[in-house]
Amino acid sequence: MKILVTGGTGFIGSHTVVELQQKGFEVVIADNLSNSSLDVLDKITKITGIRPIFSKTDLSIQDETRTFFSKFPDIHAVIHFAAYKAVGESVDLPLKYYRNNLVSLMNILQCIKEHAIPYLVFSSSCTVYGQPDSLPVDESAPIKKALSPYGNTKQIAEEIITDFCEVTKMKAVLLRYFNPIGAHESSLIGELPIGIPSNLIPFITQTAIGKREFLNVWGNDYDTPDGTAIRDYIHVVDIAKAHVTTLERLLNESSNKKTEVFNLGTGVGYSVLQVIQSFEKMSGVKLDYRIKPRRPGDVEKVWADTQLANQVLGWKAEKDLDEMTLSAWNWEKHLKSLGTL
Ligand code: UD1
Repeated sequence: MKILVTGGTGFIGSHTVVELQQKGFEVVIADNLSNSSLDVLDKITKITGIRPIFSKTDLSIQDETRTFFSKFPDIHAVIHFAAYKAVGESVDLPLKYYRNNLVSLMNILQCIKEHAIPYLVFSSSCTVYGQPDSLPVDESAPIKKALSPYGNTKQIAEEIITDFCEVTKMKAVLLRYFNPIGAHESSLIGELPIGIPSNLIPFITQTAIGKREFLNVWGNDYDTPDGTAIRDYIHVVDIAKAHVTTLERLLNESSNKKTEVFNLGTGVGYSVLQVIQSFEKMSGVKLDYRIKPRRPGDVEKVWADTQLANQVLGWKAEKDLDEMTLSAWNWEKHLKSLGTL
């Protein structure tokens, strides 16, 4: 019985492959390597002692997707990460995002139907809530108009999967991640943004290591205690573990619902300045940062109500902000030691 992890060489995908293998699952990765590299397979193998099966496949191309699925007829569940995720780029290149994120989903679902694969775990995002009316936000909160094409692909994908489940035997779980950060404790895998990072943590670590001159803090006039925006940062290994728990729930047929939705967060919000403070404390490096105007499309504050995931999945985030910033720093230092600076 094989578990397909699409995007398995990416940031969250690679950490999830490690957790799956450590729980005894046999993993097949399909990834087009558009935002990751083959080295990740060596790193996964170093951590777990098991080399995952890998196929370089572009899932947005129907023929390639079909060929891939016919090569692996014993896939029993799919964890679908493969997608573009840069919010700003999605505003400039909406078709790139709609084509890649939605066409690949539909190609996968078509193959899931043809091969009667019973389970799907989908990588969604708290972006579907926009700026929630009340906090913490739970899964029943209304879906607000998306602030970017990227966000819209997550909303539409959730709808496509839900509609698909209604008319097929497949069951799906939609996992809405808050802000995944940090890296594996081995420092062998982590987030590897190509080009200038748009996310906070890689920008912080690249500034601290000397790759960027200074960090921009996007706005300090929000209605928050220190004026900077608040997010629910969650360690990527906690997110990865939630996928294993979710998969086990599906495989055990623990629910008769066609589709379930869970927030994956810690339930605690931190401001940008608090993240900087945690980073400085854990790394011992003082960051040069400058306050700049707000970034268009950013929400003011969001953090998760995690009760559903805690109670129903029996999963809880374990790592705190300091562990997240330290692991991200160790990963950046590891990259420097490899000469990737
Ligand atoms: C966004 C998406 C989220 C997606 C994630 C991955 C939205 C609303 N959120 O999260 O769904 O999963 O990207 O790409 O679409 N910041 C700075 N300086 C920087 C970078 C960031 O101050 O150089 C601030 C931002 O303004 C924000 C916080 O740090 O307040 C976190 O930003 P970021 O890491 O980019 O994540 P989100 O925008 O929250």
